[in-house]
Amino acid sequence: MSLAKQRKVWTFALLFCSITFTTILFSYTFRDPSLYIFKHAFQLSDSFFSKGPCACRQCIAELEGDPWFAERFNQSIHPLMTRENSILPEETFRWWQWLQAERQPANFSEVVEELFQVIPDEVLYTDASPDRCRTCAVVGNSGNLKGSHYGSLIDSSDFIIRMNQAPRSGFEEDVGTKTTHHVMYPESAIDLDNTTSLVLIPFKTLDLQWIISALTTGTIKQTYVPVMPTIKANKNKVLIYNPAFLKYVYESWLESRGRYPSTGFLSLQFAIHICDEVSVFGFGADQYGNWHHYWEDNHLAGAFRHTGVHDGDYEYNVTLLLADKHKIQMFKGR
Ligand code: C5P
Repeated sequence: MSLAKQRKVWTFALLFCSITFTTILFSYTFRDPSLYIFKHAFQLSDSFFSKGPCACRQCIAELEGDPWFAERFNQSIHPLMTRENSILPEETFRWWQWLQAERQPANFSEVVEELFQVIPDEVLYTDASPDRCRTCAVVGNSGNLKGSHYGSLIDSSDFIIRMNQAPRSGFEEDVGTKTTHHVMYPESAIDLDNTTSLVLIPFKTLDLQWIISALTTGTIKQTYVPVMPTIKANKNKVLIYNPAFLKYVYESWLESRGRYPSTGFLSLQFAIHICDEVSVFGFGADQYGNWHHYWEDNHLAGAFRHTGVHDGDYEYNVTLLLADKHKIQMFKGR
């Protein structure tokens, strides 16, 4: 090979190497998943390139640099109930039973056993990895969603978590069209479509009996108020909020303010523990401090904010702090 030809080959090889190297560096610096192909093509180890616990631009589980967050965030308590984690420490069980005390509660472990014969007993969402970027939208019920035009932004998330009575029909432009998870308790239940996961927050043993009944015989019609005897929901997608996680949220995140956390705050914490990036919509009281809704004119209702069951102000301040610390992104609407 002539000297000139050899030089050309070397120049080409050098150019090729530097372009490849720059691209890999760029892909990991900006965490662009479309460029991750290079990692696999060259079989380069994760530990060498890994920059954080997830593949998003910012990862919730990144604990370095924020002692306030690191002190509170605990991934060892799973947000959802399984047969295995349903055996609660005595103190946790007593705390949970006190939330909505029942005069003659049924046997908890027998009810749990019956429950997992109706719904699946699975450990879900424990797949966090440097390659995963799961984006989630938590949609509260605030009237600040009215006229917000957030619909398509909400729909662009992987998980879309709604709660309680939240309707979509007629409000799509502001709240979106998709729901992957709908969080509720018996007294706030609504029918769902087949693709949505019903996430039940149990505040008493009767709530677990209710979901069994609502998915099968329809015999339970009343708790402390009349409830839906049957519910339209995909049995195979029903999930149960873990009472131990509920206590953790109350104590670690709310410093035991109020009687127990609101559906909105529990949904937000659920998202923070199973997602890598969380966007929050529909949180915020009206100018008088009421928890108004986007679908009705309930400005004077007062909702829970003034009843003492939840400490709405404290919850909102923690939520704002999470946003200040770039752990969540908050969309405040109008
Ligand atoms: O009214 P509801 O309890 O169904 O609302 C669901 C959640 O949305 C609440 O638990 C609260 O966290 C949040 N919310 C809010 N501001 C409102 C209405 C609701 O932050 N105006």
